Amino acid sequence: MAALEGAETALSFCSGMAAEAATFLHHGREGIICIGDAYGGTLELLGSQIPLLGIPTHFLLGNQLNGLESLLKAGARLVFLETPSNPTLEIFDIKKIAQEAHAYGALLVVDNTFASPVNQNPLDLGADLVIHSGTKYLGGHSDITAGVLMGSAELVESVLPWRKNLGQTLAPETASLLSRSLRTLVVRVRQQNESAMAIAQDLQKNPRVKRVLYPGLPDFPGHTIAKEQMTGFGGMITIDLEGDGATTSAFVDRLKLFSIAASLGGVESLVTQPVTTTHHGLTREEQVQRGITGSMVRLSIGLEDTGDLLDDLNQALE
Ligand SMILES: Cc1ncc(COP(=O)(O)O)c(C=O)c1O
Repeated sequence: MAALEGAETALSFCSGMAAEAATFLHHGREGIICIGDAYGGTLELLGSQIPLLGIPTHFLLGNQLNGLESLLKAGARLVFLETPSNPTLEIFDIKKIAQEAHAYGALLVVDNTFASPVNQNPLDLGADLVIHSGTKYLGGHSDITAGVLMGSAELVESVLPWRKNLGQTLAPETASLLSRSLRTLVVRVRQQNESAMAIAQDLQKNPRVKRVLYPGLPDFPGHTIAKEQMTGFGGMITIDLEGDGATTSAFVDRLKLFSIAASLGGVESLVTQPVTTTHHGLTREEQVQRGITGSMVRLSIGLEDTGDLLDDLNQALE
């Protein structure tokens, strides 16, 4: 994993959340700033649990980035972001945000789960630490939970005692499955990139689809930055359907090849409605603020034939 992310060293964990929690507890004690959307569990950890320990946490949405400097001035020393983010696939400029964080002696920690190390290497762009939920693309078969933290030896090794004493060690059997899966990571992700691009382009033409959020589409707001910092656009697509939440649920139920599940990054295609799964922990108001709607569906494109996946999506939309 260190080699894949161009890091000095890597530390494995029993889940992505374990890697995040240990990193926040060790490096985020003076305050944490979370930029943009993030996995619902991350938002809950930073919003509900970490503050109980007296650690200040702050949330800046993508359109509030001008507030970053004042939070850094006030003392927060860890900036955290996902890019592409979950579930709206918002793109953040890693280089620019790293420079801003460094100007105040803060660290930039990037959750690179959605991109995978095949498509993006945040450390090369100036980030200090990278986190992966190994449960997703790294594991690739939806049969393990794991997490990995990567960066300089100094920053990573100081998290080691937290991992040990919080009981977050990765089980050896799981570590073995994870290292097996890494052998096929590059070919899996390249195929998923290709399939997702074709599917995103096709869905964009469908009148039943209001919006297709995919960083590879030229009219996607973050496309220019994505092109600069990513070598592929990933296998995650979010679509907003015409109609209400019930129409969306009916669409999801009619899909035959996509299994309904909140995970992502596996060989099988998955579908989920963020408001009922990954982001159900947020209040309605928070969902609206983050642009997460009831008619939104998140697709994780697997390794099935691209044409079969398109046929399935089209029949369900019909
Ligand atoms: C982007 C992202 N980061 C972190 C996590 C948490 O990882 P885990 O499920 O391995 O704890 C998830 C889980 O869905 C995720 O999607």
